[in-house]
Amino acid sequence: MSSGFSQRDAHGRLRHLITLDGLGRDLLEELLERAEHYLPTAGEGPRRGTDLSGWTVANLIAEPSTRTRASFELAAIRLGADAINLDMALSSRAKGETLLDTIWTLQEMQVDVFVIRDAEAGLQEQVAREVGPRVSVISAGEAHLSHPTQGLLDALTIRQSKGGFGSLSVAIVGDIRRSRVARSAHRALATLGVPEIRIVAPREMMPDAAEFSGARRFESLDEGIAGADVVMVLRIQLERTAGHAPTDLDAYHREFGLTSMRLARASPRAIVMHPGPMNRGVEIASEVADGPQSLIRRQVANGVAVRMAVLAHLADARRRRAT
Ligand code: CP
Repeated sequence: MSSGFSQRDAHGRLRHLITLDGLGRDLLEELLERAEHYLPTAGEGPRRGTDLSGWTVANLIAEPSTRTRASFELAAIRLGADAINLDMALSSRAKGETLLDTIWTLQEMQVDVFVIRDAEAGLQEQVAREVGPRVSVISAGEAHLSHPTQGLLDALTIRQSKGGFGSLSVAIVGDIRRSRVARSAHRALATLGVPEIRIVAPREMMPDAAEFSGARRFESLDEGIAGADVVMVLRIQLERTAGHAPTDLDAYHREFGLTSMRLARASPRAIVMHPGPMNRGVEIASEVADGPQSLIRRQVANGVAVRMAVLAHLADARRRRAT
């Protein structure tokens, strides 16, 4: 986030959600509590609300997405909003229109929230600086830098399973260097008080030394997950490798693929997470992805609840600004 820009309003309330950087523990816990409220109870259909009645949410997703795009759309609809998904490849951006012209066009159609995923760093902030005073921007993924709702849903999943954060060892494994999921998970978990965060990656996938402050670094999977309570596996971000992708994925699986045998080195009660999409047989074996320690499907369910919580929180803040 560049200097002079704040994702909060003049009263300190959250107006945009572009990054978890700078957000305090109380706010993150409030969002997690709210997300719990939106989780369906067993045997019942999805939770619904009216927090966004009369609102319009526009998804502008310019990179591939299944989970984030669908869950933001469902979250908006289940809170009573109108929701549109603009296919960015087929939008007038493909004819040379700037994204800001697209934003101003949609703003004239009374869009209240723009949910934006883009490969360009800084784009969400650029839009947030330009939108009208009642409009909010939420990042659905910014380059390799930030994926704030993913960080929140990962934290929610850990809290549900472990009951808190205070004594945990969390290992984030894989292509950390190019991962916005890892950066937002690290930010969320450090803020929420996880005492030990490990990043586990081959040397070429390790982030620069200045990043991931406080995290322990491991270049061996076996050492990095030993005794861990949470093992969070990431795919190789092939779309960001710029031709430097590992070519031998079998070799990567042998060195860094999470198999049952390897998982046995973690705590016996360890949970396994993966943000998706998974590359089975590369970073994770199917026996682990579908195994008893996997919470990967729970993460997806939590994603809808977290996005409902964020949207409802921003709507509350706007209502307070108006009174
Ligand atoms: N985890 C995640 O962002 O998944 P999608 O790319 O499918 O949205």
